[in-house]
Amino acid sequence: QQLLLPHDPKLPPEVFHLVPFFGSAASFGNDPLAFFDSCRRKYGDCFTFVLLGRKMTVCVGPKGSNLVLGGKLSEVSAEEAYTHLTTPVFGQGVVFDCPNHRFMEQKRFIKFGLSQENLQAYVGMISEEVANFLNYDAQFTAFREKDATSWSPFHVLRTTSEMTILTASRTLQGKEVRSHIDSQTFSRRYADLDGGFKPINVMFPDLPLPSYRRRDRAQKAMSDFYVGILRNRQAEKGEQEHDMIASLMGQAYKDGTPLSERDIAHMLIALLMAGQHTSSATSSWILLRVAENPEVGERLYNEQVEHFRNADGSWRPLTYDELKKLPVLDSVIRETLRLHPPIHSIFRKVMSDIAVPPTLFAPSEDKTYIIPKGHFVMASPAASQIDPLIWTDPLKWNPARWADAAGAAAKYYSTYYDAGEKVDFGFGVVSKGTESPYQPFGAGRHRCIGEQFAYLQIGTILATLVRNIEMKLTHPFPEPNYHTMVTLPKEPCNIMYRRRSEA
Ligand code: HEM
Repeated sequence: QQLLLPHDPKLPPEVFHLVPFFGSAASFGNDPLAFFDSCRRKYGDCFTFVLLGRKMTVCVGPKGSNLVLGGKLSEVSAEEAYTHLTTPVFGQGVVFDCPNHRFMEQKRFIKFGLSQENLQAYVGMISEEVANFLNYDAQFTAFREKDATSWSPFHVLRTTSEMTILTASRTLQGKEVRSHIDSQTFSRRYADLDGGFKPINVMFPDLPLPSYRRRDRAQKAMSDFYVGILRNRQAEKGEQEHDMIASLMGQAYKDGTPLSERDIAHMLIALLMAGQHTSSATSSWILLRVAENPEVGERLYNEQVEHFRNADGSWRPLTYDELKKLPVLDSVIRETLRLHPPIHSIFRKVMSDIAVPPTLFAPSEDKTYIIPKGHFVMASPAASQIDPLIWTDPLKWNPARWADAAGAAAKYYSTYYDAGEKVDFGFGVVSKGTESPYQPFGAGRHRCIGEQFAYLQIGTILATLVRNIEMKLTHPFPEPNYHTMVTLPKEPCNIMYRRRSEA
């Protein structure tokens, strides 16, 4: 069909493919960033490809991100793009299974729960969980034996997944969830829910497969589990907790409707799923990069010593306020999220025709394209984050790029093309706008609300680990695996560790 029908010049150029329906699924699925890069060279910054029968129009670069992430509600819809994936897993009435203004209110309720006071309380809980993990996990026997000479391996993905769920349940999810984390019932339900939260579920929402049935059963059981916790808390009226359950109980929408038990239960499941893979993938990439660059591990360690070591050699506990002021730690997380953002592309369904202005394109383009209703639009912050037009030496993991000469964190040096002009940003504080070239947490109305929590969780895990162990990599740095919901390191991904003699 593609060969026979002339291409409508008003539409963005379409990527050539041989197999109808399947389209460019293999190239996109195997390596979306390489695919975007090669299409961008051939077709410019706005092009359409076929993905399992859907027309996906990619808008690359910061201007493309602006078009997708800053798009009007009448033009682009996240709920139409994602609800088939999220509603069977999170449950009804929340996130994309309610009108957008409702979801925006739900995001506001969650923000209340991430108050300074709660975040402050979480730091100690997270470092305690990590220290406990080192004291019981089978991979860390050498650590417990106080063996500071020989190196032993740990599997980075398994370790960070466990640390992430343990620390998120201890803090956000609350003590009842934490006490069930190790139970077989909870693990099985979580695994079944997770089994229904995969790329295949985005493309094929309803298949008669056992994994879909297991997902539905697990969702119901998980929802009942959370409702049980709420009812117990209401009956017991115990002391005020610092978790999300406590902060969501008693909230009401602007029209006076209280948040129902099921809303709260389903919001908690949504938070569990939204934070687990993103944070554990990020922690994995960070540990791998630190292990690959042991001198950075030493800088992280020295930063801890400088800020938190007492004269007698003992450690002062980490605090939230101080954690935010550690430039080496901050730049390591920030740089890893630039090079290894867990979410490589973000998409929306087009609800009404969108006119793409010529300014989206490279300087020589001068026409307006129409992205028609029914297409999906896709932005790729991950592509902008390694764009050589924007970043110096973009594929090099270099935390120092975030520090200016005086060592202040959260800065970047960049240039990029704006309507044909090379714009020099110089050193600037990272913009949070929809047109920023750095968006690991997205932008616009669907921007992540978990960023502060993720920085705190990942920063505390990393600080606690570098206080206790040295790390190195003895195999090549792992390639990214794009076939999973978030971008994960491929196998092998083991890190060699050795107990610090001072630990
Ligand atoms: C949205 C990334 C951790 C909760 C997003 C989006 C991105 C993102 C890119 C935008 C998605 C879109 O526009 O379609 C990340 C990364 C994380 C992280 C890189 C960790 C390193 C978390 C955590 C939580 C969370 C820990 C919960 C505590 C959410 C929620 C949304 C969101 C509720 C809003 C979705 C929407 O409005 O459509 N995140 N996230 N995230 N994230 Fe995160």
